[in-house]
Amino acid sequence: MLILGIETSCDETAAAVVEDGRRIRSDVIASQIAVHSPYGGVVPELASRKHVEAILPVIAQALDEAGITGRELDAVAVTQGPGLVGALLVGLSAAKALAYALDRPLVAVNHLEGHMHAAFLEREPLAEPFVCLVVSGGHTALYRVDPDGESHLLGSTRDDAAGEAFDKVAKLLDLGYPGGVVIDRLAAQGNPQAITFPKAYLDQSSLEFSFSGLKTAVANFVRRFGVPSICGGTGSYCLEDLAASFQEAVVEVLVSKTVKAANFCGVSDVAAVGGVAANSRLRQRLHEEAVYHRFDLHLPPLRFCTDNAVMIAAAAHTVWRRSGFCRNLLELDAFSRWF
Ligand code: KG4
Ligand code: ZN
Repeated sequence: MLILGIETSCDETAAAVVEDGRRIRSDVIASQIAVHSPYGGVVPELASRKHVEAILPVIAQALDEAGITGRELDAVAVTQGPGLVGALLVGLSAAKALAYALDRPLVAVNHLEGHMHAAFLEREPLAEPFVCLVVSGGHTALYRVDPDGESHLLGSTRDDAAGEAFDKVAKLLDLGYPGGVVIDRLAAQGNPQAITFPKAYLDQSSLEFSFSGLKTAVANFVRRFGVPSICGGTGSYCLEDLAASFQEAVVEVLVSKTVKAANFCGVSDVAAVGGVAANSRLRQRLHEEAVYHRFDLHLPPLRFCTDNAVMIAAAAHTVWRRSGFCRNLLELDAFSRWF
């Protein structure tokens, strides 16, 4: 079964063809990072306009690279939410038009369910429930996911998402957008124990998160001491130490709550997905805990942590098996929030 996936929920225009939910036939992404970078974050109106410009060439390239025409598709899949509504509507409109013109069914996919599939690309899905940490720019949450793909929320952030905290701290430190990958790189050269930042565990049993206090603590630090220079410069703290200490505070909370969720649910499989799952320290700490607690860890390859359409086409296969195709496809709407 050949499915074309389309993803436009934020700042990547992406299309991909995936066969039987697993075999990647093509994977095309037009990134808008250069457009949003001067603003230190995604500008929704600019994102929508750039999606409009890119969507048709990106779809054409995805079909071309898969070596097929639209007529050979069995279905079209698209991210319906959550995300920026103006951005989502571009992908949704293109998907509706294509499905209607080709007389093919449409599958509406939850972006987070898409991210969850990125950990299981090109392999058998798990037959047992697993715990999944979803850590992206817009979301930070823990789910128990059943073998049919149905997910149950265990806890989410009360304020900022982890990726948002990375991006806001990077902006404070003048490191550009998106900030996660720059902080990750700097942190690798720094001492994570150099500065003690608050780790919000909330109460003992809570599987919720909170990152706004940590962001404020970094802002207060910068107000007091200024933005430190890179190692070898003057001052008692260097930029690498600040990056490493901030990152450690985020990662330790993410890892400890993920382990707690796995124990609470009694599962032996754990996945971490979304842009922040590309973080090298998070991946290393999860690996260490997986060995210690004897659970199998499932992480997407780096390329499929951040937004892409392969995960949407892969998830569409599960959604279709679980609930079939969308009936009244022309009435389908975009959701800014979903689950
Ligand atoms: O999943 P994603 O592409 O978009 C959303 O659905 O939000 O995630 C983007 C987020 C950004 O906040 C970015 O800074 C963060 O993922 N990110 C990272 C790393 N790579 C991307 N955060 C920490 N370390 C990284 N290596
Ligand atoms: Zn995403």
